[in-house]
Amino acid sequence: MKNNRIIVFDTTLRDGEQSPGASLNIKEKVQIALQLERLGVDIIEAGFPVSSPVQFDSVEACSAEVRDTIVCGLARTLEKDITSAYNALKGAAHARIHTFIATSRVHMEHKLHKKPEEVLKLAVEAVRLAKSYVDDVEFSGEDAFRSDPGFLKEVVAATIEAGAGTINIPDTVGYAIPNEFGAFIRDIMENVPNVNDAVISVHCHNDLGLAVSNSLMAIQNGARQVEVAVNGLGERAGNASLEEIVMAVNVRKDFLNYETGINTKEIYRTSQLVSNLSGIRVQPNKAIVGANAFAHESGIHVDGLLKMRSTYEIMTPESIGLIDMKIVMGRHSGKHGFKQRLKDLGYTLSDSDLDVAFERFLDVADKKKEVFDEDLAAIVEDEIHSVPEFYKLDYFHISSGSSTIPTSTVRMKVGNEVKQESAWGDGPVDATYRAINAIVDIPITLGEYSLRAVTEGTEAMGEVSLKIIINDGIVITGRGASTDILEASAKAYVDGLNKIKFKM
Ligand code: KIV
Ligand code: ZN
Repeated sequence: MKNNRIIVFDTTLRDGEQSPGASLNIKEKVQIALQLERLGVDIIEAGFPVSSPVQFDSVEACSAEVRDTIVCGLARTLEKDITSAYNALKGAAHARIHTFIATSRVHMEHKLHKKPEEVLKLAVEAVRLAKSYVDDVEFSGEDAFRSDPGFLKEVVAATIEAGAGTINIPDTVGYAIPNEFGAFIRDIMENVPNVNDAVISVHCHNDLGLAVSNSLMAIQNGARQVEVAVNGLGERAGNASLEEIVMAVNVRKDFLNYETGINTKEIYRTSQLVSNLSGIRVQPNKAIVGANAFAHESGIHVDGLLKMRSTYEIMTPESIGLIDMKIVMGRHSGKHGFKQRLKDLGYTLSDSDLDVAFERFLDVADKKKEVFDEDLAAIVEDEIHSVPEFYKLDYFHISSGSSTIPTSTVRMKVGNEVKQESAWGDGPVDATYRAINAIVDIPITLGEYSLRAVTEGTEAMGEVSLKIIINDGIVITGRGASTDILEASAKAYVDGLNKIKFKM
């Protein structure tokens, strides 16, 4: 690999999924993994296998589907973690185990209750164990940036010696300032004797809004892997944003002179897919992929742009694949056209999922004259997001108006039984949810409820996202889409109930 080639390690499915409010099921994770492969990332961190059966299954499923890109599983330095990561990655064409332990004083003393020499020993043993399973091992010193530099360098040297091919230096709490972080990486590059036997990686969090700047500084000081997430997802304020780092390197080649393996034309599609499936919307003014990133409002700007695009545009929308996303579909587009458009949008469905999604598409196309990309995304999300249907909405009737007490009658399948209840409420949605509560009889509270029109116009599909709080404080998300917002509301609630039932 050329010395100016930057390895892109994507952690959207692991750290990104730790974003508050993000929830992805296994099918959704596989969709994202396949799109990340198309985007050209070098490594996909697919999850933390030991942490739950769903995490294990997700890493296993991504390993089975992704063929060209390295799939990585996270593990603490514990034997059970590393073995679990190995088992989840068994089907991968290229597997990496990423093991980590905290190296900062505050973490070692207060979280791990371990002395530095114990941490060093655990790190070395973990790398050796991982190395006995797979060739490609990465080690991270969690909270590395706040670690004693002398101790950290000792750990880096020892884990390289033990066989780690990549050493990651995380700024776990997003505390670093760019030139300070650059100097921190340079110190490692210059003073760890065997540093050239490994790739030095960085993993920057965005608590001070500096994750991208810190990562770029690290690159300029010798790091050759960046850990990033699409749309900057991740714990708290998120990770360094993939699209911002890649486009900075791309647009400022004159200054930065590095390359990545990313096909930048897949950036916009990847961002949309992650946003749609995770339920975390991209802020409009987000660099590169926000709705306003290429929108020019002021007259002076528009005038300049019309005369010469480079007056106010440092990169083209086309360079991130933001072109012709507005193809309108209808009933007559046919299944082939439907499948192709989904592929263009980054969705690769199995034949059975495609059949179900196509039926929904025909249904929507009957109700709406024109079906836009956003509608297609909502349809697919609705279908592939769905969990097994123990509870199934069969029928509902709502009576509401300015001078009526809103009442709702709901009939549902509950396992093999059919149940029906009526209730009144503050509004039609409240009445429907009360009727559903009367049927399922599970003690729950509705947390957030949000309704979004997927496209413009009165015949737009509505998408409802909500949070249900179970008795023990666990929060479950539900989602539903329909051209009828009351149906979307009921579907989202039932989706949440099914997740509670199947503990997803
Ligand atoms: O932020 C962090 O330190 C991490 C590690 C597990 C790499 O996510
Ligand atoms: Zn992290």
